[in-house]
Amino acid sequence: MVTAATPFGPRLAGKVAAISGIGSGQGRAAAILFATHGAKVVGCDVHGRNAKEAADEANHAATAAESGGEVVAVKADVFEEAGVEEWIGTAIERFERLDVLYNNAARGDFAMVEDMDLERWRNAIGFELNGVYLGCRHAFPHLKRDPDSDAWSSVINTASVSGMISTYLPNMGGGMAHAAGKAGVIGLTRSLADEYAPVGIRVNAISPGSVWTPGLAEWGYDTPEFLANVTAKLLIKRRAQPEEVAQCALFLASDESSYITGVNIPVDGGWTSF
Ligand SMILES: NC(=O)c1ccc[n+]([C@@H]2O[C@H](COP(=O)([O-])OP(=O)(O)OC[C@H]3O[C@@H](n4cnc5c(N)ncnc54)[C@H](O)[C@@H]3O)[C@@H](O)[C@H]2O)c1
Repeated sequence: MVTAATPFGPRLAGKVAAISGIGSGQGRAAAILFATHGAKVVGCDVHGRNAKEAADEANHAATAAESGGEVVAVKADVFEEAGVEEWIGTAIERFERLDVLYNNAARGDFAMVEDMDLERWRNAIGFELNGVYLGCRHAFPHLKRDPDSDAWSSVINTASVSGMISTYLPNMGGGMAHAAGKAGVIGLTRSLADEYAPVGIRVNAISPGSVWTPGLAEWGYDTPEFLANVTAKLLIKRRAQPEEVAQCALFLASDESSYITGVNIPVDGGWTSF
């Protein structure tokens, strides 16, 4: 489900965006959607081949839409400083500016508190937060704008409904490190929005609910029993498609959201309304 450029023109024309985790799921959908709306995207993934495939698909879509957008793929691990330097550095080298940072990539580790030792806990929290922290650390110098101008850049961090409410389900225990990490992403987002508004950086979070992505199968979260338990919690009785989250990211990346900063938007089919 790729939405073509609107009749009013591509919504991200002239913008350069850095997106992490474009090899799959929501990051891939965003890379395609952003390019279709005219953005120059530098997308990274720890799986280089998947990133390259996503870039090829996005470039095809952007050409078909005549949007002027394009995606450059970088193989990079955003949990490592060198990987993030490579990813953000490529954007600056190639396009000489940065307007949007979308910290999408993360990894969950699920275990009950008694079964998670300190080393695993430290890693689990790092898998949720380090990519967001490092992305901001290396991109912010390029995202600052002249305080005397009306120019703003946009940062989007992927959190989760698990950072907002308990998402415990009978067959999904052990979410405590994931919940703590994603709550951390929401806190980090608010704090950065406050600290960097004076230099023209808007910082917002998206909290997806349950999204159909390849990552789910890894944890057994694609079984009919799991699906039934999830949809019982939703007002819209189905999982989201990755493109539905990407549409929210497109809005936050564009100037259409020019008066929005420091918020966390659930894209969750009503899960957090209970
Ligand atoms: N799928 C859901 O139901 C759901 C719900 C809430 C939040 N989220 C969050 O959405 C985000 C995107 O996940 P998704 O659902 O699209 O999953 P996904 O597994 O389909 O995609 C994640 C992508 O990120 C990449 N990645 C992981 N670690 C990386 C690293 N260190 N460096 C670079 N790339 C890395 C993976 O290779 C993969 O291509 C994550 O932050 C996830 O926690 C997902």
